[in-house]
Amino acid sequence: MSVFSFQTVPNLRFGESAAEALAPMVEGYGARRLMLITDPGVVGAGLVGPVVAGLEARGLTVAIYDDVEADPPETKVLSAVKAARDFKAEAIVGFGGGSPMDTAKLVALLVRAQQPLREMYGVSQVDRSRVPGGRLPLFQVPTTAGTGSEVTPIAIVTVGAEMKLGVVDPVLYADGAVLDPRLTCGLPPHVTAHTGIDAMVHAIEAYTSRVRKNPISDNLAQQALKLLAGGLPRAMKDGSDLTARGDMLLGAMLAGQAFANAPVAAVHALAYPIGALFHVPHGLSNTQVLAPVLRFNAETSPALYADLAALLVPEAAEQTKSDTARAGTFIDFMVQLTADCGVDPSLRAVGISHNDLPKLAEDAMKQTRLLQNNPREMTYEAALAIYTAAL
Ligand SMILES: NC(=O)c1ccc[n+]([C@@H]2O[C@H](COP(=O)([O-])OP(=O)(O)OC[C@H]3O[C@@H](n4cnc5c(N)ncnc54)[C@H](O)[C@@H]3O)[C@@H](O)[C@H]2O)c1
Ligand SMILES: [Fe+2]
Repeated sequence: MSVFSFQTVPNLRFGESAAEALAPMVEGYGARRLMLITDPGVVGAGLVGPVVAGLEARGLTVAIYDDVEADPPETKVLSAVKAARDFKAEAIVGFGGGSPMDTAKLVALLVRAQQPLREMYGVSQVDRSRVPGGRLPLFQVPTTAGTGSEVTPIAIVTVGAEMKLGVVDPVLYADGAVLDPRLTCGLPPHVTAHTGIDAMVHAIEAYTSRVRKNPISDNLAQQALKLLAGGLPRAMKDGSDLTARGDMLLGAMLAGQAFANAPVAAVHALAYPIGALFHVPHGLSNTQVLAPVLRFNAETSPALYADLAALLVPEAAEQTKSDTARAGTFIDFMVQLTADCGVDPSLRAVGISHNDLPKLAEDAMKQTRLLQNNPREMTYEAALAIYTAAL
């Protein structure tokens, strides 16, 4: 008998217009003044106006904080907290990709918290918050099909010039999330590709996680991978294909539910220093190290990756006999998908040189929160070899 636990966001609405679905959710918590946290790109895409109009039409008072930066720096998070306090916000809505949604989580928490943010970094037990005092009602509306942040208890912050740290605490599970695929139809192709591959990495790393992997997270990861592998090429071909966008948004959410419980590992650990030091988008940095990390892991855990080959490329998987060969088939599939999306995964393509690799490997080894979840133990030498292969 396996012993496991599973948590997720209690109220999820998929497919409705965000403008219509959000207001009743917020009203259910008795809040009348809400702050919507977003970024200039999301505002520029014309997504914020209709939702704010829908909320105001229901008599809610809305303030917009639209100054979120990608890979949110700590200072920007704190300025959003000040804006929410000044406005006397009664509820917080994260509206955008992972950066606005993660910022919204911390704003909802820090408006009430007695504790400073710098004391919150780290991982809490799954059912015991380290942050007393609770938070404001929190709702999430994703506009990328990527991070799954709408259903995770995780907020990632860039601290100082080059370190990404996470607050992982059950209090960060939102009260509700609205998933409206129409909001993602205008995503530029490169953002679609990067965020879509990030979502696939969440599912892959959840399925192969050394800790807290369980039958529910496995099912979610498998379903997510099928939806994402099917939806991503169609969304790349025609960004306005609403069925493809819906498959991707649902896939990203299911992957988020999976890795919220069976956490991600070395792909993310090695991607974070690239993002922090070279300002490479989160999904692209994951793509850069994906194949070499999978090859490293598959040497000791081929059966897990063989399962994923059978799921996504069943005919090719059937033609190969050993788990090792099947794992290779799965990794080749991911490499081909990346190429088909027009993504160059080489580190050189973003200006990283051989001389940068030791620092990247040193910083990756500090990501102990993530490395402890990897199916194979990571060493400095292995990390350096992976970056060298990714160059
Ligand atoms: N909390 C979690 O569980 C979790 C998981 C993975 C990653 N993350 C974090 O999330 C962040 C990355 O999030 P992301 O990949 O979603 O990117 P992002 O939120 O940084 O957004 C990337 C860009 O896409 C633009 N954009 C977003 N939606 C758009 C739309 N519909 N149309 C046009 N442009 C749009 C934004 O303006 C921005 O310029 C990183 O900080 C990463 O560390 C968090
Ligand atoms: Fe990610």
